[in-house]
Amino acid sequence: MGFDLPGLLAARAGEGPELWARYLNPQTAKVLHSVGLDRQWVRAEGPYLWDDQGRRYLDWLAGFGVFGVGRNHPVVRQAVKDVLDADLADMVKMDTPLLAGLLGEALVRRAPYLDRVYLCNSGTEAVEAALKFARYATGRGRVLFCSHAYHGLTAGSMSVNGAKEFTDGFGPLLPSTMVPLGDLDALRRELGRGDVAALIVEPVQGKGVHLAPPGYLAQAAEILHAQGALLICDEVQCGLGRTGRFFGFDHDGVEPDLVTVAKTLSGGIAPIGATIGTEKIFAKVYSNMTRVLVHDTTYSHNNTAAAAGLAALSVLDEEGLVANAERRGAELTAGLREAAERYDFISDVRGRGLMIGIEFGKPRTLRQRARYSPMTLARKGLFTQMIVCDLFEHHRILTQTASDHADVLKLLPPLTTTGEDVEWFLSAFRSVMDAVSGSSRPVWHFAKGLTTRALGAS
Ligand SMILES: Cc1ncc(COP(=O)(O)O)c(C=O)c1O
Repeated sequence: MGFDLPGLLAARAGEGPELWARYLNPQTAKVLHSVGLDRQWVRAEGPYLWDDQGRRYLDWLAGFGVFGVGRNHPVVRQAVKDVLDADLADMVKMDTPLLAGLLGEALVRRAPYLDRVYLCNSGTEAVEAALKFARYATGRGRVLFCSHAYHGLTAGSMSVNGAKEFTDGFGPLLPSTMVPLGDLDALRRELGRGDVAALIVEPVQGKGVHLAPPGYLAQAAEILHAQGALLICDEVQCGLGRTGRFFGFDHDGVEPDLVTVAKTLSGGIAPIGATIGTEKIFAKVYSNMTRVLVHDTTYSHNNTAAAAGLAALSVLDEEGLVANAERRGAELTAGLREAAERYDFISDVRGRGLMIGIEFGKPRTLRQRARYSPMTLARKGLFTQMIVCDLFEHHRILTQTASDHADVLKLLPPLTTTGEDVEWFLSAFRSVMDAVSGSSRPVWHFAKGLTTRALGAS
């Protein structure tokens, strides 16, 4: 018979959860089931997903930000098909493939104060490269990172993680120290020890959607450079248009020494990451011919990923998606700020462009507090999980909690988001807030179940 993908998909439809429980991570199916997010997804296009019952959902999780240009974008698909149809000589390794070179050129064009690009397969690999390059170029071992930081989960990037649940038991880690986001005195103090290679920072943080105070990045760059240390901006999530500028740090007028990108660069189809840096740093790392492979990975220059990357950058330009992110983000934020005036549970709305966090906090009224507090006491973040579940179950919108143990709902829509999608979300969100503020719907019964399950699991 040979390999028949459509036949295989049809014959084994619906078996995903059992296969995962048996062969992959068994907790995944359990978690999805316990929060009611277990669906069989059969189709996707742009910002929408369809389940096996033919129901359409608005995907504002966007594959943790991978689908910046939307799902199955025809331009990216065509580019990848063209690569396959062209029978190109891929990954000869003893070669200088054109598409990778073109992608390097396209990235540097967007960051003209930087000169060179290292290509890899994921965000965490881009961060690993940045950390290694910074350590090698400065000859120093310690890296600073910010509170709440998330830079990936391989050994190096995990060492600059702001959340202990990701690092506990995986040590010893790379020499690294956390500095509070926005605290320039703490930065100065650490730099004073003379062993710091770099500060790595997300201009808008993925976990909790925290922003550095205005001016922090520019001043941090100045202080770092005065001490011979480097600034690494991790743009894996907030970069490539998401914040309404091409890079998140463009809001701060800063020129970092190293920049990491991934996610949106894949066009949602072919995994890719990139580390963009100065000539000075790259010239040190790759200083002579014997060091040509001193940092590399087998798939780094593959044609499929390079073509997807070039296509994704072209879509961002052609469809004006950076400006769209700014415009739709402003509409969304305005609608959410209005909601924050009306609903006692909302304590903050923050973010940039289409990277938005809605923080929930202790309501002022006693009646609401009596409902909110037991959930937060059981586990911080459960209230937000209840909102995520209600948006999903009753309004077919996929979102996420912004981090474990925080009551922040995170919105990460595709950059192609339309005015109708914004309205879909806002009216759904108001309806969920009405339900939790009153007692009109069984949402609190669901919450009770969620709390019991969470307590059982912990
Ligand atoms: C800012 C940031 N850096 C790095 C990473 C790691 O990327 P990946 O999951 O592709 O390894 C992520 C992933 O969410 C991220 O948000």
